Amino acid sequence: MKNIVETHERVKDFDWSFSYNDKPKRYPTRYKIPPKTKDPFRHLIRDYCSMEQEKDDRQYGAMSDVIARSGMPGKASERWMEIMKLVLPITCFGEYAAMKSCGQLIDTVDNAELRQGYLAQTIDEVRHVNQQAHLARYFAKHAPDPQGFSQGFKLRSRTIQARAGQGALSGFFNADPIEGAINLQVVTETAYTNPLFVAVTEIAAANGDETTPTVFLSVQSDEARHMANGYSTLAAVVSNPDNLEHLEKDFDRAFWRQHNFLDPFLGAVYDYFQENRSSSYLEKWEEWIADDWAGAYIAKLEPFGLKAPRWFDSARANMPWVGHTAMMLIAAAWPMMFWRFDPMTERDFEWFEKKYPGWYNHFGGFWEDYARIADPKEGMIPMQLFDKLPPLCNTCHMPCALPRPDIATLRVRMINDKKLAFCSEACEHIFREEPHRYLGNPTLFEEFDGVDMADFIEQGGFLREDGKTLIAQPTLKWDKPWTVDDIRALKIELRDPLRDLPVDEVEVAA
Ligand code: BEZ
Ligand code: FE
Ligand code: FE
Repeated sequence: MKNIVETHERVKDFDWSFSYNDKPKRYPTRYKIPPKTKDPFRHLIRDYCSMEQEKDDRQYGAMSDVIARSGMPGKASERWMEIMKLVLPITCFGEYAAMKSCGQLIDTVDNAELRQGYLAQTIDEVRHVNQQAHLARYFAKHAPDPQGFSQGFKLRSRTIQARAGQGALSGFFNADPIEGAINLQVVTETAYTNPLFVAVTEIAAANGDETTPTVFLSVQSDEARHMANGYSTLAAVVSNPDNLEHLEKDFDRAFWRQHNFLDPFLGAVYDYFQENRSSSYLEKWEEWIADDWAGAYIAKLEPFGLKAPRWFDSARANMPWVGHTAMMLIAAAWPMMFWRFDPMTERDFEWFEKKYPGWYNHFGGFWEDYARIADPKEGMIPMQLFDKLPPLCNTCHMPCALPRPDIATLRVRMINDKKLAFCSEACEHIFREEPHRYLGNPTLFEEFDGVDMADFIEQGGFLREDGKTLIAQPTLKWDKPWTVDDIRALKIELRDPLRDLPVDEVEVAA
């Protein structure tokens, strides 16, 4: 038998082009990719499928056998399990977006080596969609409180975090396919799947949840190869200097869009839902994103013309605060979510102050008030503690209170007769490059402007089986759960804060 490298070369010689017709251009690209480059995978698809099947068998086998028999999901920390209700609908959307991205790349990139890698990755991403949807269903059967796991995929587009997530992760497939690869493989998989699938696994395990690691580590074992796809795609891109002008813009945009959703989201998940506490999200970020990704991986490509992303330094400066700000606003609007929150305690306060010096000054008061009003008889929700709420950014859909409410970089503009809010200079710049990509997608506040919060909850399906009790609760205590009647009594109108804000400067055209 010939060795694998020779066999691989032979197989790729069977690649063909259309001689009788031009290939239809379904997903055009501005990039010029050479037809032959380095092979990132060195796997034959048949062998690859056997390996992946073996991984599936182990994971699904463990879930239906020992994990179910020993009732593991029931033994995990409840604080931790609650946030998996949000994590899974978001990551599963990311998998679906990754699958679409790779399908487009196969169609667009005329290079047999790269295409072989994209094909294997498409198979992986389909696998991941199934694994994570299965995990959500599994928790809906085995978790102590299944409500929220059952409805998360339906409710995600009506929550602020998941809606911003859909916007960022759609960047894998909603433009030039090579821009998609930069978002997916170069930024998200290489920089962020470690925090996403390894760090989340660490906290899950430390908090008694052994099921999530079984799935997430199986997923992450594929991501190293997806990073290799990204590296080979980038190497092919930088091999032609004509590509550099597009690359720089697409890379800058990709980093900011992924960062501005993923970091506040992961920071909130990581820092606010651990009960048995270990490292902070900021510590993980400094190690994996700043040192490994920007400092080593991207720096290695600098001789070929790739520069560190334009907004990397401002992202880094914001990092100590963005997770806390996002979490405060999400917790303030807890009745509009689909999981339960566990109030922060003295022990949590100490940890926060140690990991994020200055935290108490900015966020301690909020969490004290939060715990005080958790009982429905107090007759208020934390959102009512604020004089005014921030609008949502028309580019990234995150609250325009980032990085921290007192130093928010909100800007309100009038562009082509439409009042728009941006959370940052980066998001305004990105919007102005291609307004059509963002204008058709109203923010949650724009869409539900003027709606009573109780109607939003009732009509959106945020209720438990009795049709009265909210899925979300501000504590894990069950003695006095909030109902939709409690919310109706508060008479809260969801008013888009952008309506009341003055425009910073008037401009005529985008
Ligand atoms: C991935 O598997 O490639 C992926 C999953 C979730 C979010 C982003 C990427
Ligand atoms: Fe994946
Ligand atoms: Fe992937």
